[in-house]
Amino acid sequence: MSATADTVLHGLAAGEAGRPDSPDWTIPQNWAAYTPQEHATWATLYQRQMALLPGRACEAFVDGMRRLPIEPDRIPDFERLSEVLMRHTGWQVVAVPGLVPDDVFFEHLAHRRFPAGQFIRRADQLDYLQEPDVFHDVFGHVPMLMHPVMADFIQAYGHGGLRAQRLGALDMLARVYWYTVEFGLVRESGALRIYGAGIVSSASESRFCLESPSPHRLGFDLARVMRTRYRIDDFQQTYFVLDRLDDLLRLAEIDFAPLYEQVSRLDTLSADAVLPQDTVITRGDGRYHRQRALELQDR
Ligand SMILES: [Fe+2]
Repeated sequence: MSATADTVLHGLAAGEAGRPDSPDWTIPQNWAAYTPQEHATWATLYQRQMALLPGRACEAFVDGMRRLPIEPDRIPDFERLSEVLMRHTGWQVVAVPGLVPDDVFFEHLAHRRFPAGQFIRRADQLDYLQEPDVFHDVFGHVPMLMHPVMADFIQAYGHGGLRAQRLGALDMLARVYWYTVEFGLVRESGALRIYGAGIVSSASESRFCLESPSPHRLGFDLARVMRTRYRIDDFQQTYFVLDRLDDLLRLAEIDFAPLYEQVSRLDTLSADAVLPQDTVITRGDGRYHRQRALELQDR
């Protein structure tokens, strides 16, 4: 895994080793036990991102952030977050040790519970994360849960995940989550804006996804996304762009089963593929990942 890009292994499921006593993997947040150093790490990350996000994050994110009790100098209290979320979109935030198994994750989402890592990354490893922590999960994901369309979409994803497991289609569904909830871009006011949590919680990728000439930016197409591999170890090679966030609502209503059938008959695409039928917003020159591959070869 790259130590230069602040990426999170949220595409993976936890093994049995970290299993807590509760069957749904929840643990107490134990807010009072966070140390001053842990709150200081939050403050550093918060300030860094808030300086970067004006003009980059979408309106829904900014609006959600404004209305939630997410403060600059302390790790948020999940109970206070849940009170506000519950009033607006019926969601709550529950604490988990880090990654959880797929079925546990889907079950939580299907019931409008967002599992958030209880711990915060080490102060000397701000950009290196093995598992999603409280900064990624709360700063990145929770503001978007205030948006009614995203709130419904993520719940539908939870139901869809349980079904995809039965249909053996988890890979295809996970790519949809990855290229929307985690790494999605959206058109807004004539420009591209970030709504994906993996980007919005990452200083380096917030700039890379919008400003680098390296990645492709393509119009979102559901079947296309289901076929496309992604990077869990570095910045994305391709970002898919929604015309508007409300398009997620349509996605939440589609029956994916016939699509899985259709897509499983087609080749899986590499993370940097561009097809003749793609809507190309910007075609990347791939320089970043070429350079990274050379660096890795030299090691
Ligand atoms: Fe995430």
